[in-house]
Amino acid sequence: MSDSRRANFGSKIGIILASAGSAVGLGNIWRFPCQVGENGGAAFILVYLCCIVLLGIPVMVSEFLIGRRSHANTGSAYEVLSPGTQWKWIGIFGVISSFLILSYYAVVAGWTLEYMIASAAGMFSKNQDFTLFFNNFVSDPVKPVMYMVIFMLLTHFIIVKGVKDGIEKFSKVMMPLLLLIICVLVVCSFSMPGSIEGLRFLLKPDFSKVTSKVILDAMGQAFFSMSIGMGCLCTYASYFTKDANLFKTAGSVALIDTLVAVMAGFIIFPAVFSVPGLSANAGPGLVFVTLPNVFQLAFHSVPWLGYLFSLMFYILLVLAALTSTISLHEVTTAFLHEKFNMSRRKAACCMTAICIFLGTFCALSFGMLGSWKLFGMTIFDLFDFVTAKLFLPLCGMFIAIFTGWYLDKKIVRDEVTNGGRLHIGFYGLFIFLLKFVAPICIGSIFINELLK
Ligand code: PFF
Repeated sequence: MSDSRRANFGSKIGIILASAGSAVGLGNIWRFPCQVGENGGAAFILVYLCCIVLLGIPVMVSEFLIGRRSHANTGSAYEVLSPGTQWKWIGIFGVISSFLILSYYAVVAGWTLEYMIASAAGMFSKNQDFTLFFNNFVSDPVKPVMYMVIFMLLTHFIIVKGVKDGIEKFSKVMMPLLLLIICVLVVCSFSMPGSIEGLRFLLKPDFSKVTSKVILDAMGQAFFSMSIGMGCLCTYASYFTKDANLFKTAGSVALIDTLVAVMAGFIIFPAVFSVPGLSANAGPGLVFVTLPNVFQLAFHSVPWLGYLFSLMFYILLVLAALTSTISLHEVTTAFLHEKFNMSRRKAACCMTAICIFLGTFCALSFGMLGSWKLFGMTIFDLFDFVTAKLFLPLCGMFIAIFTGWYLDKKIVRDEVTNGGRLHIGFYGLFIFLLKFVAPICIGSIFINELLK
């Protein structure tokens, strides 16, 4: 496709909000608090922050510069920058990861739709067993599939509108709304009695819990949460304007993403600790089982608070998930559109159909297909494991090696300084992190885990 026909984001704020939209998602509000709960609170958060600064930001800037320099989708970007080499596999794995992730991510996103609708209908005013409600819902043969399909269609609708009129416009409205909802929810949570215990849990580090598994979890979470390694950011960066400051953009995205994750902790833990008998260590059920109990209690003591709290919380989840699913969708849509010269609409239809097909298996793996296991994992767990624990760190490592060792440093410097117009004082540190720290850290944590 000729460059003149390629879309661009229209403004710097659009660039930051679209990239932050990709980063902020279920990973921040659903996955992060689960991991904090399971891995001992603040100690995990500290390890996580180190992963963001030492590994996440440098790899994110690398993805940005690869995307903007090549002016191509992820699947073709490495071929443009290093024709005829095997580096192209990083991009191809990025494309594969993006639709594998989207297939199971849309299932959980579908659950949030069901919970949003149920809370709007006053689910929390009734006395019910939420463990049973959740188990019945996810094992139902129809409902989770139906909600997954609806979610995929919503994503599809935004994608076919294009980069500027779809992705950018949507992100510019949704991201500020999302941040506003988070602030309201933090206030709701802090107003619950006994919330201080939750804060203590979140802020008191327990370093005895930091094992190599916890470090791998923190790294996988950092990569997943920042959308690194799958080509979303590389694809978005191919729509960046020449004057976008890549370091500033990466820093802003990392900051927004981390803030949202920590604020989600501030919403969830004070609320959970306000109800005696509930555990913060509930894993994935935290948001779908534990919190409904909190909302119910809040509803019975102050009905409007319970209603507002629950409804806004699930609206938040839906919006956060949607800004991320569109970025995952865009990776393959752009790849098919440009590589095979398909129209954007046709490319998007193919991607939607593939993900609905794979997503159906993922959605049913909590019920009908629960006994279909490979290496002891259901299809849903397998997709999560292969992408979040294997592909993301590995692609992240190879992206660091590609930029740190292989790519001509003239190109790297030219991109991060916008042709010499920006002064980047820590350029040397950036290259050092990419050359040594990122590959060694990611590689050794990874091997250590695999050998166990
Ligand atoms: N970063 C998103 C989240 O935290 O939910 C998930 C995600 C989106 C992962 C896009 C990967 C990606 F390429």
